[in-house]
Amino acid sequence: MKHIAVLALFAALAAQAQQPLAPSGRWSHQPVGTAPTPPMGWSSWNAFRVDITEQKVLDSARVIVDSGLAAAGYRSINVDDGWWLKRRASDGRMQVRTGLFPSAAIGGDKGTSLRPFVDRLHAMGLKAGLYTDIGRNACSQAYDADSPNLPEGTHAEREVGLMGFVDQDVALYFGEWNFDYLKVDGCGLSSYGRDRAQVASGQYREFKPTIVEGNINQSDVEGTKRLYDGLKRALRKTRPANDYVLSVCLWGTVNVRSWGQDYGTMWRTSRDIASSFSQMVHNFDTVATREFYAGPGRWNDPDMLEIGNGDFDGNHLTEARTHMGLWAIAAAPLMIGTDLSKASPALIDLLKAPEVIAIDQDPAGHQGVIAYADSDRQILVKTLADGRKAVLLFNRTASTTKLTLTAEHLKMDATAPIALRDAWARADAGSFTGRRDFELQPREALLFTAAGRHVLARGYFVSERPGDVYVARDGIRALEPDPIVYRSLASWAATDNGGTRPAYAGWGGPRADSTPYDQALGVKGRLFRHGIGALADSRLEVKLPAGSQRFTASVGVDDSTRGRTAAVSFEIHGDGRLLAKTPPMKFNQPARELSAELRGVKLIELIARQHGADTAGPIVVTWGEARIE
Ligand code: GLA
Repeated sequence: MKHIAVLALFAALAAQAQQPLAPSGRWSHQPVGTAPTPPMGWSSWNAFRVDITEQKVLDSARVIVDSGLAAAGYRSINVDDGWWLKRRASDGRMQVRTGLFPSAAIGGDKGTSLRPFVDRLHAMGLKAGLYTDIGRNACSQAYDADSPNLPEGTHAEREVGLMGFVDQDVALYFGEWNFDYLKVDGCGLSSYGRDRAQVASGQYREFKPTIVEGNINQSDVEGTKRLYDGLKRALRKTRPANDYVLSVCLWGTVNVRSWGQDYGTMWRTSRDIASSFSQMVHNFDTVATREFYAGPGRWNDPDMLEIGNGDFDGNHLTEARTHMGLWAIAAAPLMIGTDLSKASPALIDLLKAPEVIAIDQDPAGHQGVIAYADSDRQILVKTLADGRKAVLLFNRTASTTKLTLTAEHLKMDATAPIALRDAWARADAGSFTGRRDFELQPREALLFTAAGRHVLARGYFVSERPGDVYVARDGIRALEPDPIVYRSLASWAATDNGGTRPAYAGWGGPRADSTPYDQALGVKGRLFRHGIGALADSRLEVKLPAGSQRFTASVGVDDSTRGRTAAVSFEIHGDGRLLAKTPPMKFNQPARELSAELRGVKLIELIARQHGADTAGPIVVTWGEARIE
C-alpha cells in the first residue's frame, strides 16, 4: 500500500511541476551553459568504450585538427567513461588512472590532474570534455564489469559519481582542470538496486533506483530534477560566465525529454545508440517529434554519431550519409564516435560536408518538423535563418521507394518555382513547381535546401519556427509513453521477453502541424495542414521578430480530443498583456478566428485554458494556421 501511495505521489508531483498557466510576460527559458548552435566534437565512447587511453584520444584529436574537421566545427574532445582510478579517501579528490592518462601523474599533494591534458587540447585550439555520473557509481561499473579500467579500492573510493561531491567535483573539473564540457550520466540512479548481482554480492553499495527504464511511473522525476538542479547551482558558482556545455544523459527516462531544456545544454532523448541502422532510426524517432523543446542554447540529443562504425562504416556510405542527414535536419549535436586514426578519407569528407553541417548549425536553431510520415518514408523540413528551408527525404526501408515532395510540404507557393540544392553534392538540383517525384535507394536520405516563394504573402506559420517557442506548460496530467518510436531491439538485448516497449514520456506535448497525439489537426471537420496542436491547460511562449504586426489563428477543440465535454478558451497575451481571447469553446463547435495586433510586442503567449474537469481525458486543441504577419 505504502509503495502505491509513494508512486501516486510521484505521478502527482510530475503533473504539478509545471509552470503556471498565467502569462509570464517574458521568455522563461534560462540557458544552462552556452551553445547557440548544436555542440560538435568527438567522444571516446562509441569508438573505444572503456578501453581508452590518452594516446587514443589525442590521436583522434590530431586527425580532427589536421583533416580540417576542427575547422568544420568539431572542436570538443570528450573523454567518456573509463578515465578514473578512485576517489581519494583522505579528501574525496578524484584521482585519474595514470596508466591510461600518463600526463595526469603530476605527484605532490594533488596526486593526479587532468589539467596538462586539457591544456594540451586547448593549445590545439580544441575544447575538452569529461564524463561523470549524477549518482554514486557510473555506468561502466554496472555494464562493463569485466573491464580492467574500473575504479579501484574501497566502496567509498569506487564511488566516483557526483552524489555527495557535486561542489567539489565541479570545482575540480571546471575550475582547476578547466574542462569546457561535462556529460553527466544516470546509472548511479538506475543500476544499483538490490537485484543487481554486483550489489547483491556486496561489491557496490545499494542505491534504491529512482530511475526505472521502461516504466515512467516508477521513476522519481522531481527527485532527479533536484539532483541536476544542485549540479546547475555548482556550475554557476564555478563558471559564473555560463561558458560550458552540460550534457544530461538520462536516456529519455524520467520525462527528461520535457525538462532537459531547463537543466542542461543538451539532453539524451533515448537509450544508447549502436552501430545498427535500426537502432539509429529508433534514436532519431525520439527527437523527431520534440521540435518545440529545442532551440538556440537547448538541444535534443539523439546520442553520438556512429559514422565510421558497423552499418555506417566506409562500406556503407549511403547509411552514413543518412545518419548524418537525420542528425542535421534535427539540429542534433554532432559528436563523432569513431577512431579517426582509422577513418578513410571518404568518411572524413562525409563528416566534413560543409552544406550538411551548415544545416545542422544554422543560427536560427529551428529543429526540422515532420511534413510527411508513414512507417516507410518521412519528409522533414527545417526553417533556416535566411528564410530558405532544408528538406530531408528519408527512405526507412531496405527497398527502393518513391516519394513526392510538394510545395505545401515546404509551405511554399505551388505556382512559383522552387529551387533545390543538393547539400551532399553541393550542387544545384534543378527547380520544380508544385511537386516533384523522387526515387530513393534503400535507407537513403536526400538532403536539399529549397528556395521559393512562401505560401503567405507576408509572414510565417509559428510551427515553422519551433526554436522560437518555449513550452512553459504542456498540459500533460499523467505521464504516458510515446508510442510512435521505432521499436528496434537494442543491440545488447535478446528476444527472450515479451517485446521491446520504449517508455519515453512526453507523449501529449505540443506539436508543429500535428496534434500532440500525432493526428492531423482538425476542428469540426475543417483540416489544418499548418498549425500547433496542444493540450489544455497549456501555455506556449513565442518570441517574435522585430516588426511583427499581427497574430492570427483559427482555434478550437480538435476533432481527435479525448475529453469532449469541458470547454476551452483561447487567449493571446503580448508581453504579459491580454490581447485577445475566445469565449469557452467545446468539441464539435466550428473553429473561431482569433487575431491580435502585435505592434511593438516582443513575446506572445498562447494559452489554452480549460473550464471544468473532463473525466474522459485531456482536451486536445488546435491553433490552426497560427501565423505571424
Ligand atoms: C551510458 C551512456 C553512454 C556512455 C556509457 C558509459 O550507457 O548512455 O553514452 O556514456 O554510459 O559507460
